[in-house]
Amino acid sequence: MSEYDQKQKFEEEQKRITETISKIKHRIAVFSGKGGVGKTTVSVNLTYAFQVEEFSTGILDADITGPNVPKMLNVNSELIYLDERIIPFEKYGAKMISMASLIKHGQPIIWRGPMRSKVINQFLADVDWGELDFLIADLPPGTGDEILTIAQEMKPDYAVIVTTPQEVSVIDAERAINMARKLKIPSIGIVENMSGFVCPHCNAIVDIFGSGGGEKLAADYDVQFLGSIPIDIDTRILSDKGKPIILEKPNCEVSKAFKSISELISIHYEHAFVLT
Ligand SMILES: Nc1ncnc2c1ncn2[C@@H]1O[C@H](COP(=O)(O)OP(=O)(O)O)[C@@H](O)[C@H]1O
Ligand SMILES: [Mg+2]
Repeated sequence: MSEYDQKQKFEEEQKRITETISKIKHRIAVFSGKGGVGKTTVSVNLTYAFQVEEFSTGILDADITGPNVPKMLNVNSELIYLDERIIPFEKYGAKMISMASLIKHGQPIIWRGPMRSKVINQFLADVDWGELDFLIADLPPGTGDEILTIAQEMKPDYAVIVTTPQEVSVIDAERAINMARKLKIPSIGIVENMSGFVCPHCNAIVDIFGSGGGEKLAADYDVQFLGSIPIDIDTRILSDKGKPIILEKPNCEVSKAFKSISELISIHYEHAFVLT
């Protein structure tokens, strides 16, 4: 392809991305410094916390090398293309797209940053998201190419940073806050996940990873603290079965925590809207 053709292709893609995001009211990036802290769990449950409130929602799995969203939603099908457009999956009333639907189960994706960014661009340029109230991007851990691309192309208006209470996670979450600031994501909120465990036998609260680290971090950096989510066996079991806890057990503690987080984000948007 000539340089001219390449430039034209790039410009056309940028135009399609602009068109996609112009139809999505709010775009949220969920990320963290560390892996395994619950980003995908938060992304999925937040998506349905909005969805049950009658908002139209979508979830974009921006973890290209470790895509877990389809597993947590029990989606096994392959993507459908229509006139060069990709039709997102619809699961439990929300739209979803993931790299996992493009590869065979268990197959590794050994791609450098630019390739991963290319896929994210395609997820924005060529997927028929339609009109949405919320699009939530579930990111891989760290401050790599994926978050850079999401920030540049999807232009999130809110960064949800997930941490667990222990220090190694909080230190990495600090990096994530600074990254969100550098990337000029206008609003930042912290979720403390795996915050305490209620013993099913004696009901005592055991702080396996400690507690309060996320709230302190939010205060230190003057960002919104969105809430704490306890360690909960059903959350893990249901997520392995592809069923978000917020839909299966809407009145449990974890679901209540997710609802409160989504409400805080909605209230934040209302205020931001009034002020602008
Ligand atoms: N609050 C929680 N209670 C129990 N298990 C959880 C909780 N949050 C996440 N998990 C489990 O921990 C594992 C890692 O979570 P995941 O959302 O995949 O993290 P990440 O996307 O940050 O790598 C998953 O098996 C998930 O079900
Ligand atoms: Mg994940």
